[in-house]
Amino acid sequence: MAIEKITERVTSVGAQDWHRRLFDELIPLPDGTSYNAYLVKGSSATALIDTVDPTKQKELLSNLNRLGVDRIDYVISHHGEQDHSGAIPAVLEAFPEAQVVTNAKCKTMLKELLLLPDEKFKVISNEASLSLGDLTLQFFDMPWVHWPETMVTLLKEEEILFSCDFFGSHLASSSLFEKIDETVISSAKRYFAEIMMPFSSTIRNHLKKVRELSPRMIAPSHGPVHKDPSVIVGQYEDWTSDVKKPVVLVPFVSMHGSTRAMVEHLVDALSERHVKVKPFDLTVADIGELAINLVDSAVLVLGVPTVLGGPHPVALHAATLVNALRPTIPYVTMIGSYGWGGNTEGVIKESLKNLKTELLTPVMIKGHPEEPAFDQLDKLADEIASKCKQLDN
Ligand code: FEO
Repeated sequence: MAIEKITERVTSVGAQDWHRRLFDELIPLPDGTSYNAYLVKGSSATALIDTVDPTKQKELLSNLNRLGVDRIDYVISHHGEQDHSGAIPAVLEAFPEAQVVTNAKCKTMLKELLLLPDEKFKVISNEASLSLGDLTLQFFDMPWVHWPETMVTLLKEEEILFSCDFFGSHLASSSLFEKIDETVISSAKRYFAEIMMPFSSTIRNHLKKVRELSPRMIAPSHGPVHKDPSVIVGQYEDWTSDVKKPVVLVPFVSMHGSTRAMVEHLVDALSERHVKVKPFDLTVADIGELAINLVDSAVLVLGVPTVLGGPHPVALHAATLVNALRPTIPYVTMIGSYGWGGNTEGVIKESLKNLKTELLTPVMIKGHPEEPAFDQLDKLADEIASKCKQLDN
């Protein structure tokens, strides 16, 4: 990644990962990502804020070399996950005088994940400050954005909040000063949906603290910096709220067309009732798109056929992900076809047990749907339309 000045004394030295297409071997990255690391030069000490994924450590070291950095006093580690911490061992090898500054929980993680020795750490407590001479770093624990140890750092004199994953987006770009437009907000929402959504209620409290700190810039460790923090903070306030849109999501899979026929009937029935509906064929859908829509949609209808006595594994996988992401979705149900029996309904209900939701009556039918099944789907569409109307009022 190109070295980029953020301010006179803060320089971006991290790496773009233009071609990465999967994170955690699970999350699609349609626009790549970046691992932002920031060099902060005070009059008496220099700090490196986070590092990069180990696959990009050569770029980080090369950037530091090109800048002529001959000493790093502190490596601030906000988060143990290796896309930010993974190059710490390489940095410590190149700059043996550096101390790793972090909280006690993160220290334990870094020791376990990176096998770093005890003497390399300087442990700080919540709201502690660290002087770099004419600059001051202040640390704030913000657990569960998105691991238990996560923290952020305020560069007090310049009012820059380094937020690591918080407010980040998986978006590779040629400048960290990318205009914060629809594309960036959409990437940030995808990022929120995929890793932050399970912790929405905790994040709501952190947002109050961020408002109180009132930074003039937020510099995350993925994606562009936010020169007007109120935009991304406002978006996070919306995404973590319990206000839902009257939108129905229908992720489905179908083996021989019966469940698909049910899905198509329901989608048409909802459309005719002026209810916004979004079907997702799980065999080709970007699961991240489904996650984004789970942030603020009101209804989920899983289309799930029965195979070998239970739910089709592709639909079960989707249910497991939804359960892990814990969206606050008010209404959930399922529709699908079976050949002769099985416990699809029971397994799916169990797999969604984290959700605090009202379960509408499922429509599970034998064989290909005919009029009685379509009547049931029409009744379900009526019920959903009525729920959505209430949300609109
Ligand atoms: Fe970007 Fe949770 O690491």
